[in-house]
Amino acid sequence: MPRAAPPRVPLAKPVDTVPAGTLRQLRLRAADCRACPLWRDATQTVFGAGPARAAVMLIGEQPGDQEDRQGEPFVGPAGQLLRDLLAECGLAADAVYLTNTVKHFKFHPRGKRRLHQRANAAEQAACRPWLAAELLRLRPRWVVALGAMAAQTLFGDAFRLTRERGRWRALDERTDAIASWHPSAILRMRGEPREHALRDLRRDLRKVAARVAGDVPPTPPGDAP
Ligand code: URA
Repeated sequence: MPRAAPPRVPLAKPVDTVPAGTLRQLRLRAADCRACPLWRDATQTVFGAGPARAAVMLIGEQPGDQEDRQGEPFVGPAGQLLRDLLAECGLAADAVYLTNTVKHFKFHPRGKRRLHQRANAAEQAACRPWLAAELLRLRPRWVVALGAMAAQTLFGDAFRLTRERGRWRALDERTDAIASWHPSAILRMRGEPREHALRDLRRDLRKVAARVAGDVPPTPPGDAP
C-alpha cells in the first residue's frame, strides 16, 4: 500500500524534521531540547500553551525574562498588553494557543538585569521543528504572527510588516494567517507611533475575533485581502 505523504508544514522557512507526538509529549521533549546553545543560559524551555483544540494560534518571537522564569508564554509586560487586547476584542486568552517562534530566552546580562537579545537565524532554524510540530498537531483555523520574526517564518523573508500587516493569507487549505505588530515593539514605542501601532494591533485582533464569531470559510491558497 502506498504510504500517505507526510503533511506539508505550512511555514515558508525550511524545517528538516518534525517531531511527532501529542502537544503534551512535544512539550516534554522540548524541555530537553539542545538543538542550539540557548538552553545553557535559559531557565527552561517555554513551550506553547493553550487548549489542544484551539482554533486560534498566536505566535510571538521568543520568551522574555518573566516567561523564562515562569515557563509560560506571554506572562510578562508584553503578554499583559496582549491579554488585555485579546479580552477587549472578545478573544479569551485561555481559548487561544499562545506560542513563540523560539522557545528559549536569549539575553545578555547587564548588572542584575537580563537584557533581551534577538535569536539569530541559526537559533530560529533550530527551533522551527517545534513550531512546525505545534502547527501540525493543532491545525488551527487562524494564526496570528506577532512581529517580524514570526511573520517571516510563516511568509518568508521578503515579508514586511510595514507593508503587509493586517492582511489575511492562506497558509494551506485549512488555515489562514495574519501578521501584526508585536506587543513588545509597541511597548518600546512612544507617542503617536505607539498609538498607531496599538490601534493596528487592536484592529487586527478584531479581524480574528470576527472570523471566530462568524466561522468564515478559509481563504483560497494564495494572497487574499
Ligand atoms: N514576547 C514574545 O514574543 N513572547 C513571549 O512569550 C513574551 C514576550
